Amino acid sequence: MIIFSFRNFLFLFLFSILFINIGYAKTIKHPSYVKGQCGACHTTKNGESADLKMEMPELCYSCHTNYEKNDFIHGPVGAGACTLCHNPHESKNPKLLTSNSVNELCTSCHANKGDMLNSGENIHPPVQDSCINCHDAHGEKHLYQLKADRKKDLCLTCHTDKKDKVENSINKHGAIEMGDKCLGCHDPHSSPSTKLLKAEDSKTICLTCHSSQLPRDEDGKMLMNMGEHLTNNPDAHGPVMWGDCAACHDPHGSDNTRMLKHPFPEKSAEKFTTDGYICFQCHEPKKITARFTKEFTEFRNGDKNIHFLHVKTKRISCKTCHDYHASKDLPHHLKSETTYGPAKFSLRFLESPTGGSCNPICHTIRYYDRVEPVNIKTNKKL
Ligand code: HEC
Ligand code: HEC
Ligand code: HEC
Ligand code: HEC
Ligand code: HEC
Ligand code: HEC
Ligand code: HEC
Ligand code: HEC
Ligand code: HEC
Ligand code: HEC
Ligand code: HEC
Repeated sequence: MIIFSFRNFLFLFLFSILFINIGYAKTIKHPSYVKGQCGACHTTKNGESADLKMEMPELCYSCHTNYEKNDFIHGPVGAGACTLCHNPHESKNPKLLTSNSVNELCTSCHANKGDMLNSGENIHPPVQDSCINCHDAHGEKHLYQLKADRKKDLCLTCHTDKKDKVENSINKHGAIEMGDKCLGCHDPHSSPSTKLLKAEDSKTICLTCHSSQLPRDEDGKMLMNMGEHLTNNPDAHGPVMWGDCAACHDPHGSDNTRMLKHPFPEKSAEKFTTDGYICFQCHEPKKITARFTKEFTEFRNGDKNIHFLHVKTKRISCKTCHDYHASKDLPHHLKSETTYGPAKFSLRFLESPTGGSCNPICHTIRYYDRVEPVNIKTNKKL
């Protein structure tokens, strides 16, 4: 006796679905492709003659929307060659297509895009999926038969998080509205680089614009010429050296000052919090917060942390002493020339094997020594 359990039932059910799908891939027939109705398209009722009763594509347009009303018409559609892509009678593929994959169909003519799909480059997922995620096969209001304007609107239909960012960030990026907008930095199909970038890294892209002084949208103040700065200051900070400006900046805009991905004090001095400094995304916060240490920083007098003294106690931002883009001749990305509020001055930093000295305008010359600590009042070794 067969015990007809639910499990058996499920098994049979799934098996039959599989069978139907493999065994009988369904042929879809165009309406009127039926004996006796062939006259809908042919000159004779039963299609004995292949002669069409109207020219192509007018024949198709006698029942279907006329695609030629679009501003941008796809080459073969304009030429009336509907049957290069559709079988007018029947097909096993959806929409009576002559190929079972849209991408195969498109790349049968656009061979360079076929090469692109096979190139091993990073392919934009919707391109891998189907060209008609963005292009209309027939025609559209937008260049290249795209479903929205290519430079930005199209991208934002899917990337809604970026839409929110570019429209609502406090610090917007001029680049988003310049020239080719999103396409200025990204390739819509594929790229040998990550994030579909049009250059090998973000730095190369940023410097195409930031090798001159650009005015800020918010207040018209001129931004530094970063290209020139990097040429004059060859000791580039880690991420800049790797070409990754986007390690710190969000090129799509951000609520933080200077479009940084995490906060950073805007002024020369601000109350210290670990969250307030983007630097701690990569650097150990204890180099600032440990009052006494022999481990976390070299900027110490014996075990007394001088980073703590300046940044935590006096609230002085890293930017007074360090240049996190690039520095010239001092070690540890220390600045030769710096500013504090409106004051411009030189740090006059000198390194010694076990410490160093500084002679800015903030105080008279001061020494620190990790091995033989210096008395700060007398400047003599203890
Ligand atoms: C919706 C319109 C349409 C209907 C309905 C239609 N045909 Fe066709 N038929 C065409 C078109 C368009 C072509 C030309 C195809 C091409 O360009 O290769 C064609 C071509 C043909 C040919 C030439 C050989 C071939 O297959 O390309 C024959 C034979 C034919 N049709 C028979 C029939 C018969 C029989 C029927 C009815 C059972 C029928 N057609 C119904 C549109 C139609
Ligand atoms: C006599 C009217 C008529 C003519 C002429 C005609 N069609 Fe159709 N076609 C229909 C109808 C009705 C349908 C089914 C309803 C629908 O899906 O729009 C259909 C469906 C289709 C579909 C499939 C739509 C789907 O959703 O699967 C395609 C593709 C198509 N036609 C292409 C063509 C092409 C190409 C021509 C010219 C060679 C043509 N048709 C000529 C009436 C016609
Ligand atoms: C380059 C290939 C190509 C050509 C040429 C082409 N089509 Fe299509 N057509 C497609 C694809 C791909 C789809 C499926 C679109 C989808 O699934 O959104 C489609 C869908 C359709 C549909 C179904 C409507 C719908 O929106 O689902 C009709 C009807 C149709 N085509 C008619 C035509 C007619 C008429 C012509 C000639 C004037 C034509 N096509 C020329 C590729 C083509
Ligand atoms: C039968 C061959 C053929 C097929 C299949 C085909 N195309 Fe085209 N496509 C052309 C021709 C021809 C042009 C016009 C080229 C020109 O104007 O230089 C064109 C133009 C284009 C353009 C505009 C390019 C430009 O430089 O203006 C885009 C985008 C495009 N096709 C996308 C597609 C997509 C997406 C598909 C698949 C749905 C597809 N094509 C399938 C032949 C084809
Ligand atoms: C994510 C959206 C998207 C998808 C999916 C997509 N494209 Fe495009 N395509 C674009 C945009 C945007 C442009 C305009 C590029 C420009 O202006 O530099 C374009 C331009 C084109 C052009 C004309 C310019 C050129 O590069 O030759 C062709 C042809 C083309 N696409 C074919 C295809 C084919 C074939 C597929 C599928 C393999 C495809 N596209 C998938 C967005 C897309
Ligand atoms: C049809 C939806 C769609 C459209 C339109 C679209 N994208 Fe995408 N895009 C995706 C999906 C899905 C992913 C993969 C998931 C993700 O990273 O969000 C993706 C990923 C990306 C990535 C990350 C790739 C990586 O290597 O991590 C970039 C960059 C990108 N898209 C840029 C664009 C740009 C620029 C446009 C406009 C030209 C655009 N997208 C249009 C759907 C879309
Ligand atoms: C100034 C150059 C530039 C412009 C303009 C630009 N992007 Fe990007 N985009 C980048 C860089 C650089 C990355 C890599 C970011 C990273 O590594 O964090 C990126 C990453 C992305 C990603 C991947 C997800 C992520 O954040 O890492 C998407 C999606 C994306 N961009 C979409 C867009 C869209 C949509 C537009 C237009 C509104 C646009 N981009 C404009 C440079 C740009
Ligand atoms: C197409 C030109 C262009 C490119 C490419 C470009 N930028 Fe900009 N950027 C501008 C312009 C113009 C401004 C000034 C207008 C504004 O945004 O306030 C600006 C401003 C900035 C600002 C100051 C923002 C503020 O709120 O003060 C930063 C930081 C910045 N860009 C970083 C980058 C980075 C990082 C890249 C590379 C990922 C990059 N930019 C690529 C044009 C560009
Ligand atoms: C380690 C993090 C970091 C990296 C990497 C980085 N930046 Fe910055 N950038 C900052 C910080 C922090 C500021 C804010 C400076 C300030 O407020 O004085 C800034 C400010 C800027 C400004 C505005 C300068 C001005 O005049 O006020 C521009 C432009 C800029 N960066 C471009 C770049 C470019 C281009 C790259 C890649 C070559 C890059 N940044 C890499 C942290 C970084
Ligand atoms: C008052 C000037 C000053 C300020 C402000 C300052 N530093 Fe330093 N920093 C130095 C000096 C001087 C050294 C070199 C110490 C040595 O090796 O003798 C140094 C060294 C470093 C080093 C190298 C490793 C180490 O700790 O010895 C890092 C990383 C660093 N600082 C990060 C920061 C960060 C992040 C900030 C802000 C949160 C900051 N600094 C603020 C002066 C300063
Ligand atoms: C994305 C990671 C990253 C971020 C964010 C970052 N740094 Fe760095 N930093 C590094 C790397 C990697 C090095 C080692 C290479 C070098 O010396 O440039 C380094 C080195 C340094 C040095 C020199 C250390 C030495 O021993 O000489 C200083 C000073 C410094 N960073 C300061 C900062 C400051 C200030 C910030 C915040 C504005 C910051 N960094 C943000 C990655 C980062």
